[in-house]
Amino acid sequence: MKPLIAGNWKMNGSLAANEALVKAMLDGLGGQTPAADMALCVPALYLAQLQSLLTGSPIAWGAQDVSSHEQGAYTGEVSASMLKDFACRYVIVGHSERRQYHGETDLQVADKAKVALAHGITPIVCVGETLAEREAGQTEAVVKRQLAAIIHAVAHCTSEIVVAYEPVWAIGTGKTASPEQAQQVHAVLRAQIAAATQHPERVHILYGGSMNAANAASLLAQPDIDGGLIGGASLKAADFLQIVASAH
Ligand code: PGA
Repeated sequence: MKPLIAGNWKMNGSLAANEALVKAMLDGLGGQTPAADMALCVPALYLAQLQSLLTGSPIAWGAQDVSSHEQGAYTGEVSASMLKDFACRYVIVGHSERRQYHGETDLQVADKAKVALAHGITPIVCVGETLAEREAGQTEAVVKRQLAAIIHAVAHCTSEIVVAYEPVWAIGTGKTASPEQAQQVHAVLRAQIAAATQHPERVHILYGGSMNAANAASLLAQPDIDGGLIGGASLKAADFLQIVASAH
């Protein structure tokens, strides 16, 4: 399985900055096939721009959230069919910033993953423990509970999801999980996926949380780390490309 390196721009960017960043990435690739599958998950307003810049390139694009509803009176929300209108390949669901600041529950996140799949969009499902949970020895229980909700909702489509293990204490903090710490949790998630689908080998399990050009290679060398979900370092073309190049 080719690794997947997905950028999460979060709430960053502008028309001008996005164009410069995407062009720098495409220039950096220089028409070569990248060592990893690549995607950029951007604010929904910029999907049309990314579609126009990236169509025909090796970089896919996606959104950072999706409504669990199909359509209707849900002011401010964006539906899966709208994302599909802009040819999104991926959507991040259950990012810890959505769980933390918007109170998203395991059940809501699972509904979002299900709606995305129903529209042919691959959900990148985020799971991860807080520092307090890690210190209380609850890491495995937390990530298993979060992933179980997804597996329960998407059932026979489990092999179609992407999972991202993102320890909350490592996101945007510069504190990365050590390769061994990350691998330990990835192995737990892999076993859970394997018990739920006949095609566990199709499921990428990404690591996210302060992954950067300097630490990517050692994380990506772990047997159960199939790629990365990259926040800060996806806003710098050279860093993002360096991470992609360190995947094998
Ligand atoms: P970070 O963010 O790489 O800036 O830590 C990762 C994420 O939140 O997806």
